[in-house]
Amino acid sequence: MFSENMNDDVKEVLLTEEQIHEIVEGLGKKITEDYRGKNLVLVSVLKGSVVFMADLMRAIDLPCSIDFMVVSSYGAGTESSGVVKIIKDLDADLRGVDLLIVEDILDTGRTLSSLIKILKMRNPNSVKICTFLDKPERRLADISADYVGACVPDEFVVGYGLDYDEIYRNIPYLGVLKPEVYSK
Ligand code: IMP
Ligand code: MG
Repeated sequence: MFSENMNDDVKEVLLTEEQIHEIVEGLGKKITEDYRGKNLVLVSVLKGSVVFMADLMRAIDLPCSIDFMVVSSYGAGTESSGVVKIIKDLDADLRGVDLLIVEDILDTGRTLSSLIKILKMRNPNSVKICTFLDKPERRLADISADYVGACVPDEFVVGYGLDYDEIYRNIPYLGVLKPEVYSK
């Protein structure tokens, strides 16, 4: 069961709201420099990245559009297989577009590596990845992000859009979930 006060389920705060704000501002500045004169489309894969997307887009000082996808990855248990099924596709035509995929966390990388293959077939001008968090120790697919907010250790983190069993997404900071919450 989840505690009435979500903070009671957090073992440790990894990033405070202030730290997150600075990270996102820094990413926004870099992206603004890199995408000047380009046809930037930010694509968020729902749902984990919505909070990051909402902040990142306001830290980018360029005309750009946003779009959303819903995918599910087939696989037994908790490991994603890397075979993705598109549940909700993009509205945008990707020809000539500079696509920036906005992710909450790059873990095994299996979902994103197969998604990128699908998106590249649609002839965008470029495809890059901006992830708020990176867990490089867990990587199984040959993929890395072009923009990384912060690297985190191999622990289960929640807040700032990230969930456990759909809960905790609305915690404004990033915390490590107490193991007793998911072992109960
Ligand atoms: P993968 O890179 O294909 O393994 O899948 C990444 C997805 O797993 C993310 O978009 C998250 O939804 C989820 N995920 C991985 N690690 C965590 C975590 O520590 N907390 C919450 N969700 C996580
Ligand atoms: Mg999730």
